[in-house]
Amino acid sequence: MSESTVLERTTLLQTGGLSVRYGGVSANTDVDITVGSGEIVGLIGPNGAGKTTFVDAVTGFTKATGTVSLAGERLEKASPHRRRRAGMARTWQAGELFTDLTVSQNLAVAVQPVGLRAMVSDVLNGSRPPAETIDHALDLVGLRDAADQRPGELTLGQQKLVGVARALVGGTRLVLLDEPAAGLDTHESRDFGAELRRIAATGIGILLIDHDMSLVLDVCDRLYVLDFGKVIASGTPAAIQDDPAVISAYLGSPEVDPDAVAELDAAGSSGGPTDLATGTEPTTTAAPEENR
Ligand SMILES: Nc1ncnc2c1ncn2[C@@H]1O[C@H](COP(=O)(O)OP(=O)(O)O)[C@@H](O)[C@H]1O
Ligand SMILES: [Mg+2]
Repeated sequence: MSESTVLERTTLLQTGGLSVRYGGVSANTDVDITVGSGEIVGLIGPNGAGKTTFVDAVTGFTKATGTVSLAGERLEKASPHRRRRAGMARTWQAGELFTDLTVSQNLAVAVQPVGLRAMVSDVLNGSRPPAETIDHALDLVGLRDAADQRPGELTLGQQKLVGVARALVGGTRLVLLDEPAAGLDTHESRDFGAELRRIAATGIGILLIDHDMSLVLDVCDRLYVLDFGKVIASGTPAAIQDDPAVISAYLGSPEVDPDAVAELDAAGSSGGPTDLATGTEPTTTAAPEENR
């Protein structure tokens, strides 16, 4: 292959000893995770394992100790806004779209640095990022044609992709997706996964949190498993599925139906989305944008 056609894989995200305490709870303890460009890395673990906390810590939304680098640039002391400008973006668990805004307006709102809701009127009044920035993000998720539609006119899968596109606006190199596929059925979830692969193929690094094991095992290059705030296993999907520590972490959770472990084994080959943490089919949440 010629050099020009090869996307060089560089380390985008690197955390070192990342730790977060909430009172007496160690929500993250010494978490070391890397995500390379063009790579989809899964972060899985039972409810309360610290997955969202990790995203909060990386993006600067919660106080953490340890280091956070993006392509070698140290960012652990930077504000969330500066980290966003450096090229890292996140989605929020159960993040909702603004139903009264078009798809492109939903993207425009997302890049405003502060006071999201207060910015809605600005966007409606025409103060917005350059159209090509938004179009590029919509291209990345294959939704350019939906720019002027409202979320309600789209399929649930497309709505989820708009959520991803919001995080891709403005030169995002690394995106952290917190349960972006929640509520999708098997078929929609597979399409969603294929779209994530296309996004990664452009060189963007993706950290994917999801309970849908068939999606995660299918789409991720590597996985990390968190339990009680610690990484208890990492490796390829094939290796993770057979890891006794992983199986016991899921078994050990009081919320888990033991059958879920059988699902963990089965999920690699086929099967529908199964919510490992609850042992139930995922449901669409109508929760407000805050996730706890
Ligand atoms: N803002 C917070 N204040 C206090 N405790 C929190 C906060 N956020 C999370 N926690 C606690 O940290 C632990 C990890 O939570 P979380 O990161 O939300 O887990 P996950 O996303 O894996 O379900 C849980 O015990 C949770 O109760
Ligand atoms: Mg969470």
